[in-house]
Amino acid sequence: MSARILVVDDTELNLKMVGSILQKDGYEVITARNGFEALEIIKTSPPVLAILDVMMPDMDGYTLCQLLRQTLTTAKIPIIILTALSGVDDKIKAFDSGADDFLAKPFEPPELRARIKVLLRRVSESETVQSDIVAGKVIAVFSLRGGAGVSMLSSNLAASLSQIWGNPAVLVDLAFMNGQSALLMDLPLRNTWADVGRSPANEIDIDLINSVLLRHGAGVHVLASPRRPEDAEGITAEHVNRTIGLLRTFYHYIVLDLPHDFSETTLTGLDNADQILLMLAPETASVRCAANAMETFAQLNYPPERTTLILNWPFKGKGLPRAGIESALKKQIDVVIPYAGEAVVASIMYGKPSALQTPLDPLGAFLEDLAYLYSKEDHKQNPPENAGEGLKRVKERARTR
Ligand SMILES: Nc1ncnc2c1ncn2[C@@H]1O[C@H](COP(=O)(O)OP(=O)(O)O)[C@@H](O)[C@H]1O
Ligand SMILES: [Mg+2]
Repeated sequence: MSARILVVDDTELNLKMVGSILQKDGYEVITARNGFEALEIIKTSPPVLAILDVMMPDMDGYTLCQLLRQTLTTAKIPIIILTALSGVDDKIKAFDSGADDFLAKPFEPPELRARIKVLLRRVSESETVQSDIVAGKVIAVFSLRGGAGVSMLSSNLAASLSQIWGNPAVLVDLAFMNGQSALLMDLPLRNTWADVGRSPANEIDIDLINSVLLRHGAGVHVLASPRRPEDAEGITAEHVNRTIGLLRTFYHYIVLDLPHDFSETTLTGLDNADQILLMLAPETASVRCAANAMETFAQLNYPPERTTLILNWPFKGKGLPRAGIESALKKQIDVVIPYAGEAVVASIMYGKPSALQTPLDPLGAFLEDLAYLYSKEDHKQNPPENAGEGLKRVKERARTR
């Protein structure tokens, strides 16, 4: 298949001219007459390179270029600005908006050819260098009712995933009003989501995220919720969306500790999740909340297999029977986490997730096995060479079971 190049220009003649040059060179050419059309076309036919005119009605080429750069799926497409504007200011504006190259009209076809070749060669070189870009898995832990163990499970999963696969996992606290992830990991609140919220959403980049993440010695990186509720003011759904999108390209596992609501930022977290672990405790209110959550997921058209039901026993003694809960929810409970009493209380008091403190104790081991269960299939099938001690423990337990 020949490489596809997108040409955006509001003048038919220009489209034809550029198109015929490219076609002669064996490229497949797709065209758009304005920015909006371009954004639509890109969704279904992603090009290897884009050539943008600047002066177009509705959306100029600079704006289109910026939009492409800000969207994760299009951020790396090489862009040439091809325009009748030829001043130094215009060139600078093109590069500022994220273009890779600039060519003034009228142009000589061989020059356009040469520039396209250079850009495409650079991309294929950097693709081999940047093979460490990953497709991270987002695991959202959620319950509409507090106290079901969302924070307990999410912090333990993040800790276990990093111990199993030998790579940092990131724990993202989206409970902006009262999240305590950093505390659960015994990390001082040097930076938080508030620092992300202070930046315009479209300017969030990996350097900002890196500067804000708290790093735990055991390989968990935490994006903590703000110190005070009022510090959360600037954080929008777009901030959350962009941040998760970026984290996905750098971390294999992104675990979301979600608050007990359907706010816009929570929904953005859920929308981004590859897997939702819906938690409930064996009590009536918790079951009711789980039913409501599942109903909302259905209305949002989440595929049913995205949601996994986890019954957690955060209290001792009598609770609703599993079978009764399953028939009320018309869904199988996939995992039951037993009441672990002292073990969890101690881990919370000392800010050390059970899975880190005592991976050999029953709860720590259980949570570590759970983290393996929700790991990426390609990891399970081809474990990376640098996999951690956790993987050995998981394998050993599976062998002796
Ligand atoms: N399986 C369990 N055994 C014992 N205590 C638990 C268990 N799960 C959770 N807890 C305790 O229940 C409380 C609520 O858990 P938490 O994770 O903070 O819930 P959430 O984040 O859903 O509000 C915490 O004090 C936690 O230590
Ligand atoms: Mg919580």
